Amino acid sequence: MNSLLNVGNTGTPLTILEKSTYAQWLKSQNQSAQNWLEKTSYQGEGLALLPSFSVGTEGSLSQAIFVVDDASHYFSCGNLITQLPLGQYKLEATPEHQQAICFAWLIGAYQFSSYKTDHKEKKLPSLTVEEPTLVSNAIKYAEATALVRDLVNTPAADMMPENLGDTAQSLVDSFGGKLSQIIGDDLLTQNYPTIHAVGRASANQPRLIDFTWGNKQHPQITLVGKGVCFDSGGLDLKPSAGMRNMKKDMGGAAHVLGLARLIMSHDLPIYLRVLIPAVENAVSSNAMRPGDVITTRKGLTVEIDNTDAEGRLVLCDALAEAENDKPDLIIDFATLTGAMRVALGTELPGFFSTNDEIAEGITNAGSKINDPVWRMPLYQPYNDLFKSSIADMTNCSSGPFGGAITAALYLQKFISKETNWVHFDVMAFNVRPLSGRPLGGEAFGIRAVFDYLQIKYN
Ligand code: BES
Ligand code: ZN
Ligand code: ZN
Repeated sequence: MNSLLNVGNTGTPLTILEKSTYAQWLKSQNQSAQNWLEKTSYQGEGLALLPSFSVGTEGSLSQAIFVVDDASHYFSCGNLITQLPLGQYKLEATPEHQQAICFAWLIGAYQFSSYKTDHKEKKLPSLTVEEPTLVSNAIKYAEATALVRDLVNTPAADMMPENLGDTAQSLVDSFGGKLSQIIGDDLLTQNYPTIHAVGRASANQPRLIDFTWGNKQHPQITLVGKGVCFDSGGLDLKPSAGMRNMKKDMGGAAHVLGLARLIMSHDLPIYLRVLIPAVENAVSSNAMRPGDVITTRKGLTVEIDNTDAEGRLVLCDALAEAENDKPDLIIDFATLTGAMRVALGTELPGFFSTNDEIAEGITNAGSKINDPVWRMPLYQPYNDLFKSSIADMTNCSSGPFGGAITAALYLQKFISKETNWVHFDVMAFNVRPLSGRPLGGEAFGIRAVFDYLQIKYN
């Protein structure tokens, strides 16, 4: 990915314009260029290639222009790199637009081809940009995004708890830090009953991945990610359509690994802890059953109403542990509910927060960097919807309404009053291709959160 974007100012000029400024730009061009654009019926939208009209170089490519609605939008130029002829270009764009363009240039090159036997690496053009920090930042954002996509796109058979552990380990190998894992029955002896209960029916042992990075003197942020490597639904098995894409149910884990990568690669002055309960929600004779009661790490008892509401179960023990060292902020990411998709659709992640200022900060950062997120309410009266007659609560509401809220309220029971907590319920998947965003695994909200953290802690 790196060689596609370099520091420098050599190459064919690539001019990025907005529709509103195109007419003015056109007037400033020489007559030959104006004629060319007119005679080739260029409509002032998308890509146009301009030949040289000078003696000696006539007919060679002298300039490329790319006209978009909003050049500050992070994916406006998402299909530029695959449309341009091979060669080296130099970026000509307003300074405010350059960060978004550089990111889109790189992420537009993303493809998931590991499982295609006839795949030939497509040669792509390269771009030079004068400002070195623009280049290095774009690479960091694009690499974090590609990591999330790769992890989600990888089939469950190759992305089991062990593989998530290996991914976390390789981040620690690259950026420093300390990693430990609690695996299989050790989860019981070390008091992680719900992680064990959800994961015990799988041939791939459940585990809690735990790593820290940075200087302990800095404010601590703890990230928690739902790592359900495949969600069959357990005994309350999902119907086939609902199960089809459940390799993505470790999307929360992928998001926190991507976010951790952003934090570590920028060397943000925070002390980071990442907790990933990683399991497969499988079916076997030892699977947890509807009606079983589990005593969670925190001591609260939960009656299993539906084994398909497993995400909140693995998260609740991890959140209880996250509370232990009193971090400044806990942020979790999870592909937690279908209900959140019903509420906001697949492209807008919803989040909940116990702190208004943090929620506003994340929302604003997201709008600025075109990573929109939407706050949802922790509406307390809905706690009544998952009461149990024999335990402290059930793991889900039996009714069809407010599912994303009741899931968040379930998690909130494991967060103490003083804790700043943010919970993201994400899709982790593009169900339709958009510019720079192919079908399949996708990162939602990590640029918003990272930019918020950068503003607050840098
Ligand atoms: N992983 C799913 C939620 C999900 C489904 C996220 C589709 C994104 C897209 C989760 O474990 C689940 O199955 N939730 C159930 C909860 C229900 C049983 C209360 C759901 O949303 O239907
Ligand atoms: Zn489920
Ligand atoms: Zn799930």
